[in-house]
Amino acid sequence: MKLVVPSEILENEHRVGITPDCVSALAKMGFKVFVQSNAGINSSYSDDDYKKVGAKISSKLNELYSKADVVVKIQRPTKNKKVNELKYLKNASVLTLLYEQKFKAEFSSLKKLNINVFALERMPRISRAQSMDVLSSQSNLSGYKAVIDAASIFNKAFPLMMTSAGTVAPAKVLVIGAGVAGLQAIATAKRLGAVVSSFDVRSSTKEQVESLGAKFIEVKGEDSGETAGGYAKEMSKTYKKKQAVLLAESLKKTDIVITTALIPGKPSPKIITKKMVDGMKIGSVIMDLASEFGGNCELTKHGETVDYKSKKIVGPLNLPASVAQDSSRLFSKNVLNFLMNSCNDGKFKNFNWEDEVVKETCIIDNLKKKEK
Ligand code: NAI
Repeated sequence: MKLVVPSEILENEHRVGITPDCVSALAKMGFKVFVQSNAGINSSYSDDDYKKVGAKISSKLNELYSKADVVVKIQRPTKNKKVNELKYLKNASVLTLLYEQKFKAEFSSLKKLNINVFALERMPRISRAQSMDVLSSQSNLSGYKAVIDAASIFNKAFPLMMTSAGTVAPAKVLVIGAGVAGLQAIATAKRLGAVVSSFDVRSSTKEQVESLGAKFIEVKGEDSGETAGGYAKEMSKTYKKKQAVLLAESLKKTDIVITTALIPGKPSPKIITKKMVDGMKIGSVIMDLASEFGGNCELTKHGETVDYKSKKIVGPLNLPASVAQDSSRLFSKNVLNFLMNSCNDGKFKNFNWEDEVVKETCIIDNLKKKEK
């Protein structure tokens, strides 16, 4: 089986789909790993690092993709001025982050090819699939990096400092949405010495927030806000009103806000209004991690830092790619676990089409149809 790892061609994408530490495990499963020359360099993995563990380096795209069985990419196959990745895809299974509802044109082009595509963002949220869950591994690092970036923009220090020249008060951080990214943001802000509070519509997150030493802001008198599948649901108008009042009060005292609130399949809820930002202190920073899905703040612009009345609202682009060494390593491990999951006696022959994680992620199955 030939497994191909091309360089990512989208701007700002510094990650690589497979890192050297996974190559020997893939070889044991029966894969020969072929890596495009310099595919890992932006994540600090050199061609030599891949060669040392037995991967083959290829600089010609025709040669790289030729007879590929599996192609692993972070970003969906696409084209730029120099490369059209779609033209190299033949009879292969592609493992990638697809987001087909957002990138409709690429999705319909891919559907015409004789390939399988596994959209890794569709990994079911079941305990067994945790080790294959790319959204979790990448969100975790986003939560960390959001706090680090906010701290570098903020013009005050994070921890309490008692100095001979006077006391520096600790920064006040509010994290909205205490899922994977939010909990990591809370932990990181606490480590930097900030006073942290958080809220989430899922009341089950209260215990997790408090266990990290942060204060949970609770909207009293409502149900749990959680679907049977463990996701957030859209809340009632009464809830939203109560939430807005509590939030406006908290924001007046907050220096840094990290927002991570998402509702699967829907635009992100607009939680921070322009009026609420008016009430915030000058110098405050809002890091809106939901910006790609519309943002949690009315003023957010994806990929931009908006300066509004001396307050900064940041809509970061691809935060996991800014910690590419670690995010690539975790993505690669998720992919390895996903492939292992279809192995019999330690060897990979084909995907296990009866398995829920295979069925849920395989969004284009043109090759499978041919096999039948
Ligand atoms: P997410 O990225 O979909 O949402 C982020 C957070 O925003 C969630 O905690 C959600 O409740 C919250 N939120 C949504 N609307 C809100 C609003 N209006 N106000 C405040 N907060 C709001 O979720 P994420 O972080 O990917 O995962 C959520 C949970 O799912 C995790 O905490 C974990 O317990 C579970 N999970 C389970 C996995 C598995 O078993 N394989 C894998 C990943 C997550």
